[in-house]
Amino acid sequence: MFFKILVGLSLLAVLAYAQEINFVYNGFRSANLSLDGIARVTSNGLLKLTNNTKQQMGHAFHPDPVQFKNSPNGSVFSFSTAFVFAMQPPYANLGGHGIVFVVAPQRGLPGSLPSNYLGMFNETNDHNNTNHVFGVELDTVQSSEFQDINDNHVGIDLNGLTSAKSTPAGYYADGGVFKNLTLISGKSMQVWVDYDGTEKQINVKLAPINVQKPRTPLLSLSKDLSLIINQSMYVGFSSSTGSVQTSHYVLGWSFRVNGEAQALALSQLPKLPRIGKKEPSKVLTIGLPLIVLFVVSMLILSVVYVIRRKRKFAEVLEDWERDYGPHRFKFKELYVATKGFREQELLGTGGFGRVYRGILPTSKIEIAVKRVSHESRQGMREFVAEIVSIGRLRHRNIVSLLGYCRRKGELLLVYDYMPKGSLDKYLYDQPKVTLNWRQRFSVIKGVASGLLYLHEGWEQVVIHRDIKASNILLDADLNGRLGDFGLARLYDHGTDPETTRVVGTLGYLAPEHTRTGKATRSTDVFAFGVFLLEVACGRRPVKIRDAEDAILVDWVFSCWDQGAILEARDPKLGGEFVEEEMELVLKLGLMCSHSDPLMRPSMRQVLQYLEGDLPMPELSSIGLSSGGLTFAHREGFDDLAMSYPSSLYKASAHSSSVAE
Ligand SMILES: *[C@@H]1O[C@H](CO)[C@@H](O)[C@H](O)[C@H]1NC(C)=O
Ligand SMILES: *[C@@H]1O[C@H](CO)[C@@H](O)[C@H](O)[C@H]1NC(C)=O
Ligand SMILES: *[C@@H]1O[C@H](CO)[C@@H](O)[C@H](O)[C@H]1NC(C)=O
Ligand SMILES: *[C@@H]1O[C@H](CO)[C@@H](O)[C@H](O)[C@H]1NC(C)=O
Ligand SMILES: *[C@@H]1O[C@H](CO)[C@@H](O)[C@H](O)[C@H]1NC(C)=O
Repeated sequence: MFFKILVGLSLLAVLAYAQEINFVYNGFRSANLSLDGIARVTSNGLLKLTNNTKQQMGHAFHPDPVQFKNSPNGSVFSFSTAFVFAMQPPYANLGGHGIVFVVAPQRGLPGSLPSNYLGMFNETNDHNNTNHVFGVELDTVQSSEFQDINDNHVGIDLNGLTSAKSTPAGYYADGGVFKNLTLISGKSMQVWVDYDGTEKQINVKLAPINVQKPRTPLLSLSKDLSLIINQSMYVGFSSSTGSVQTSHYVLGWSFRVNGEAQALALSQLPKLPRIGKKEPSKVLTIGLPLIVLFVVSMLILSVVYVIRRKRKFAEVLEDWERDYGPHRFKFKELYVATKGFREQELLGTGGFGRVYRGILPTSKIEIAVKRVSHESRQGMREFVAEIVSIGRLRHRNIVSLLGYCRRKGELLLVYDYMPKGSLDKYLYDQPKVTLNWRQRFSVIKGVASGLLYLHEGWEQVVIHRDIKASNILLDADLNGRLGDFGLARLYDHGTDPETTRVVGTLGYLAPEHTRTGKATRSTDVFAFGVFLLEVACGRRPVKIRDAEDAILVDWVFSCWDQGAILEARDPKLGGEFVEEEMELVLKLGLMCSHSDPLMRPSMRQVLQYLEGDLPMPELSSIGLSSGGLTFAHREGFDDLAMSYPSSLYKASAHSSSVAE
């Protein structure tokens, strides 16, 4: 008996406790909800009823039952609830299905279906009076079988999915103005459901999260819930997705029987995940690829730029060259100096390459840069070594080689800049530019002393190989300077020694040179002789058109032969010359151009004759005679010589010996 009373008392205590049920969840992190389906509480406390999965449902119920009546046949107490929800659709304004606040006899609504059944009922039990389910639905799909009014409505469901009453989502703002709301906007909204047990009236209100509970309800239904709600029930949420997956969230929830639900602490509610759907999708689908494209193309462009720049300024530098360090120029430096080798800086195009004027960027020294293309690597080492060693030659009648630079297939030689240019234009471009006899004679002496220096003044013999007026440059004081020496050597290299190609300039080649292909001091003297005649006569060594005096040497010889050697002088000089000097130069020219190398003077002798330190021997004494037998046939001319058979230059037995 006592035991029975005790049980009864404790039962009453439980009932009294149940009647006063009143809970608030500002976030669900510490809540002990009863979850099923795909419902989860996220780590930051959001109740996520559904995730991005189609045709799924999720339930979340307060774990404890709620006492709604004093007795099974009694009337339902007043109750009140408030909750904040958000529905995030994957695509703007396209979602499914919805969230329902439910009062149900069991947690989890067993047997229910997802999609348009909202996780509440199935096709057999819809609208059964035995269901005892009360719900307030937030429906985002118009299901015609349940007479939905639209795809964005709030409805009151009694035992079934066809709402007892429903209305488009929205709220009455202060002043009674109705404002539409879109349930699946992804924004947080608050719902209030109040049942007045005395008036038997259900009021539903909806408002954006930042708006206070409206005065005017969105939805109002007069209905006694006593036949629907049992004495002990469970409260919670049901949610489902349809063919479009939507994330349904509840952020906070309060519930109370016999009194108004406590207000939610909105600032404490968990944060929704960023709605990275619509706007970021624009950024992602258009902006990001564009940015990636831009970055990638910038990257490619800069790589291409760097590669092209690298290739543009690429040089060839081998280990053995490091010894010549100081003589080596950077290609970039020369490129800047010549303003990118532009046409305006072009000084001329010689046999071996183009010559550009430039100013060294740091020292501001004026230079001439010769670009020599050279495909073969053979002999390059000896050649560069020679060039560099020649570069150490310093003589007032030699154009100083300042250094060089090597690139693939190309050699760049850097010389002192000679402001007055090459001698040939003073001889052939008359009368625009001209040199008087005094100047010419001084140039001749200068060149002779420069050549002597090459032949004898240096630790090794340097053969110039290409003496001619166009290779004589004039400095600011009109001193003649030898340029371009050694270059011919570059072209001798790399060819098959069996078929030695003779390099030099037609008209300046000694006969034995063309025959043997070997350049000697003597062959330089021969070319110097032709050069002397060139300067004295003011004409080129070979004239193509006029057959009679085509070969300058022949012609001077014939003048001499007739005892009138001065007739050969440059007529443009008029009478302005020193006869003895002119005669000396012409005779010396013939002597140096002797077909027999042994008969040619050395440069030392040449200089002595020019300076008057040694008297010139008679030409006849060295084999030059009117018989004209002493000059060898000039094989160097090959075809040219054939077409201009010379009466004077007949093969002579003693000079055509191959040995040298
Ligand atoms: C949705 O939730 C369920 C259950 O937690 C999980 O198995 C599934 O992988 C989730 N799907 C997505 C897309 O997050
Ligand atoms: C949570 O609720 C379940 C019933 O759903 C109950 O069995 C369990 O004891 C509760 N846990 C806590 C810590 O309240
Ligand atoms: C409650 O109502 C049912 C019929 O609706 C009746 O059979 C039952 O006796 C009633 N119980 C009480 C305690 O009034
Ligand atoms: C429908 O739901 C009810 C109530 O939970 C259940 O008894 C019934 O078996 C379900 N029907 C189907 C077809 O699932
Ligand atoms: C609200 O939505 C309804 C249709 O759902 C539309 O007819 C009405 O013009 C909208 N009102 C406002 C103010 O947007």
